[in-house]
Amino acid sequence: MITPEELLKQAENAMHLAYAPYSNFKVGAALLCSDGTVFTGCNVENASYGVTNCAERTALFKAVSEGHTEFTAIAITGGPDGVPADPCYPCGTCRQALSEFVSSDFDVYLRNGEGKTVSYKFNELLPLTFNLHE
Ligand code: THU
Repeated sequence: MITPEELLKQAENAMHLAYAPYSNFKVGAALLCSDGTVFTGCNVENASYGVTNCAERTALFKAVSEGHTEFTAIAITGGPDGVPADPCYPCGTCRQALSEFVSSDFDVYLRNGEGKTVSYKFNELLPLTFNLHE
């Protein structure tokens, strides 16, 4: 069983692959599937800024497109020039994208400013979710 620290380490490795020439804010995510598979992702920016894809959705879309739709946790780390600063909370769009697939007790692991692991349950980050299925 992978630990939160190991999952964060994979997120950090993915962060170093970020393509972020416009913001220089690099983000990495590691998404843990119910069967133990991990999919990583980084943010991929674009000259047309709105086309940018966040690290979390990169990991999610990689997983779903490979046939994985059940997840237990995600680790996220990021900061200016790839130096993690405050906890890198997932943006609202990524929370909504994840909500399609995860339950309220899905774990979200982040690093705080001192490098310590902090964790949240998904429903703390996105309560009262909009969903067309249960
Ligand atoms: N970013 C992510 O990858 N994930 C988030 O949850 C927040 C923001 C990226 C998008 C953009 O490339 C950069 O961080 C600055 O917003």
